[in-house]
Amino acid sequence: MTGAALTVLGIETSCDETSAAVVRGVPGGSTELRSCVILSQDVHRVYRGIVPELASRAHLTAVAPVVDRALVDAGLAVRDLDLIAVTEGPGLVGALLVGVSYAKGLALAADRPLVGIHHLEAHLFGTALEDPAAVPPFVGLVISGGHTLLIDVPAWGHYRLLGETRDDAVGEAFDKVGALLGLGFPGGPAIEREAARGDPSRYRFPRPMVHRGAGQRAGDPDWLDLSMSGLKTAVVHAVRDVRDLEAERPHLARGFQDAVIDVVRIKVERALELTARPRVVLGGGVACNRALRAALAGALAARDVTVHAPSPRIATDNAAMIARAGLFRHAEAGAPVDADSRLPFPGLTRGASPEPPRP
Ligand code: KG4
Ligand code: ZN
Repeated sequence: MTGAALTVLGIETSCDETSAAVVRGVPGGSTELRSCVILSQDVHRVYRGIVPELASRAHLTAVAPVVDRALVDAGLAVRDLDLIAVTEGPGLVGALLVGVSYAKGLALAADRPLVGIHHLEAHLFGTALEDPAAVPPFVGLVISGGHTLLIDVPAWGHYRLLGETRDDAVGEAFDKVGALLGLGFPGGPAIEREAARGDPSRYRFPRPMVHRGAGQRAGDPDWLDLSMSGLKTAVVHAVRDVRDLEAERPHLARGFQDAVIDVVRIKVERALELTARPRVVLGGGVACNRALRAALAGALAARDVTVHAPSPRIATDNAAMIARAGLFRHAEAGAPVDADSRLPFPGLTRGASPEPPRP
């Protein structure tokens, strides 16, 4: 499906990043990222976690200048846009409301069409902005602070949920263990730095839900689902027993990170056994983790499967992926757009046949 090129403004305010971006491209064809502005809210560091009310207030002051900057960087005015795309969910409802209200106002004032975008679907689109090969069919792995999803993507718009976390998201586990180790918020980047100088043999933490024992076969939900809570508890106990946390921190970080990487790699390998897809596409903040990317790429090369990972600015929350998803969903412009913290994933099925009808 190709057509005329469209210029799309994306707006993202679902969590703690205020972002706007302009993407120009052909739906179903090539795309060009014209600008991307991301303002990360620093205020949450003080509280070691995201405070929803503070996030909403920070979006309120940031959204207009961030959108203006994205337009200026792209050398465009609002009248040059063919479409405005905004995250309508899932996320923090107050934070979503700021972006959705602003986008509605802009669309009305400038008489431009508006389309609502699902934040997690957009994470699947982000990588293709930088890497044209990151397109279906693929196994998608969205690993962020709020979500952990393993999804089969035979074609854009057709998604089969293969596995998800039973408890904490992978990024959430990084953040909680980071706090335990006294590394501040967010924990992921700091744990990766510490782990790089850690001894991998000092701590051997459990790999939850990976054993091929009874009740663990392809077809059982446990086969592809993930769990982080047992691993987190094991780290809690280890930290309690430690005399010199300063000295042990890199080794604890390494032990934790290695366990997470093993679990994620094994689940991705199982997803590939089931789907036989030729590539894996990563999205979400944890996709920044270089050790995880290297472990996946190394393990999957033997299966002739390529791993496509976004750069940090596209991995973490950003509006470029929202604009890119807007390009795909442009025909839905005009439908009602409302902030919805629990917005269902469009086109997502569980379990059943993944193949879409042939065009
Ligand atoms: O996608 P994102 O920006 O926000 C959400 O939608 O949640 O992801 C943020 C998450 C945080 O949990 C952070 O600790 C994690 O991504 N993260 C990392 C790394 N960089 C960010 N986790 C592990 N290693 C990293 N290098
Ligand atoms: Zn996200």
